[in-house]
Amino acid sequence: PLVVILAGGLSHERDVSLRSGRRVAEALRSTGLEVVLHDVDADLLAFLRKTRPDVVWPLLHGSSGEDGSVRDVLDMLGLPYVGTGPRASRTVWNKPISKTALLDAGLSTPDYVTLPQSLFRDLGAQPVLDTVVRRLGLPLVVKPTEGGSALGVTVVTRAEDLPRAMVECFAYGETALIEQAVIGTELAVSVIEGPGGPEALPAVEIVADGSYDYAARYVAGETEFFAPARLTPDQATLVSDVAVRAHQALHLRHLSRTDLILDASGTAQILEVSVAPGMTEMSVLPQAIAASGRDLAALYRKIVDTTLA
Ligand code: DAL
Repeated sequence: PLVVILAGGLSHERDVSLRSGRRVAEALRSTGLEVVLHDVDADLLAFLRKTRPDVVWPLLHGSSGEDGSVRDVLDMLGLPYVGTGPRASRTVWNKPISKTALLDAGLSTPDYVTLPQSLFRDLGAQPVLDTVVRRLGLPLVVKPTEGGSALGVTVVTRAEDLPRAMVECFAYGETALIEQAVIGTELAVSVIEGPGGPEALPAVEIVADGSYDYAARYVAGETEFFAPARLTPDQATLVSDVAVRAHQALHLRHLSRTDLILDASGTAQILEVSVAPGMTEMSVLPQAIAASGRDLAALYRKIVDTTLA
């Protein structure tokens, strides 16, 4: 079978996506599959019509990849693809909407407010930010409502640093999500669907020197990872269960990754869920697969075979 991996594109996460795409292409080729890695541009439709792949793996991170639009095109063409469908992708891509869906499912996520940039223009920045600090306290995390790889994200411990964090955030989108910063153990739990349904891989613990920002994610040596995470058996079961419940509640397919903080009270507070988890050599999912004792290439091949079946 011919597999087409869609990567690159024009999002802020273009480089990360190409890195993910190259790794997955290499792994799938090693299992004997024919793989074409395509850097997505305006000719996508013509390319897919001409190539007629048996299966597509959309490895686009960020806008158009994770917001469901490319998956709409794949559905329109009737092409089987790895991962979540367009509607659920759109829900997950918008952080406030996905937080609401997680809360509806009885899961926990940090308390938050959303702030459109227009509100600042209408009411003035300072009164709005004062209200936010009164409501949520400090420290806070400011992030764009849509986006990945921690781009535009700032952890704010002093109220006077909030305006600068907002400017950074609005560089990536029109609306900011401001949430309480939860103190605890930072974990990422990947979920893969097997014959018995969704199954969590071992949690990976992230110990960043500072915040787990873009550099901490993709520059070797910036972050310490523990795979598996240093958890008690009960904690490991809890976070696995939370990631599987998030995967199911958000109607995700084949694979996902849930990022969370296990707080001092033992609650798993979900920060976000990803339908296109990074697959670079630095990313969490490949580390979780290694920690599970499974072969990376064989597992990716199984995902392709499941999609084809
Ligand atoms: N958005 C990046 C690729 C991730 O979630 O891993």
